[in-house]
Amino acid sequence: MRIILLGAPGSGKGTQAQMLVEKYQIPQISTGDLLRAAVSSGTELGKKAKSVMDAGQLVSDDIVLGMIKERLAENDAKNGFILDGFPRNQTQAIALDELLSELNWPLESAILINVNKEDIVERIVGRRTCADCKQVYNTFTSPPATEDVCDKCGGELTHRADDNEETIRKRLDVYEEQTAPLIEYFTKQNKLHSVEGSGDIKEIFGAVCRILK
Ligand code: AP5
Repeated sequence: MRIILLGAPGSGKGTQAQMLVEKYQIPQISTGDLLRAAVSSGTELGKKAKSVMDAGQLVSDDIVLGMIKERLAENDAKNGFILDGFPRNQTQAIALDELLSELNWPLESAILINVNKEDIVERIVGRRTCADCKQVYNTFTSPPATEDVCDKCGGELTHRADDNEETIRKRLDVYEEQTAPLIEYFTKQNKLHSVEGSGDIKEIFGAVCRILK
């Protein structure tokens, strides 16, 4: 299975991707996670990316495409993958199509998770992520049993530097300008499917799985 999860920041891509990983045993490939790993290890690439991410803008296509090529070359991607947060604009979408065509790995579906903007701001402000296993929580809607401690692995829960109200509004604008046009791009390829992203997380997951069957 080779799929893309499309949707605004905070629409639930990462949450649904983690459930898909468990069910289908294929990796979640998140360019946001790859970039945050580079930022925390202090690499040159991470230093370049940090200020751009903190401002809510997109990191340059060269950097992101280089990371995706390397990640798709890893062994676990051979059986399929879930792309989360990539592609983010038309240049990235075309480059992905070219890369997958060279590999003879056609993309099966792009699943759009639709959520209204006001729900998104609350979700983002309340998001906490485990520093170790990356499990995602929300202080309003899905808090951990013990504050700031991961239910799954006991790791510390962290709050992302770009998860504040000012930056999220910028990220939403960038999504509308640069990423939302991909809805038409994948519709033209007959690969786009949409799910309603507000409501119970497990019900949304059920809707995603019905598309994939
Ligand atoms: P990235 O990490 O990709 O962030 P994003 O797209 O902004 O998406 P999020 O991770 O914020 O949200 P999500 O949809 O995964 O939601 P989640 O499941 O966590 O990118 C960050 C930055 O990196 C970008 O701004 C850019 O600078 C750079 N970048 C990344 N990729 C790039 C690329 N390809 N090109 C260039 N630059 C790139 O859920 C959010 C919260 O809501 C959680 O708390 C969760 O518990 C909660 N929640 C989820 N579902 C529900 C529900 N149904 N009901 C209630 N709450 C819910």
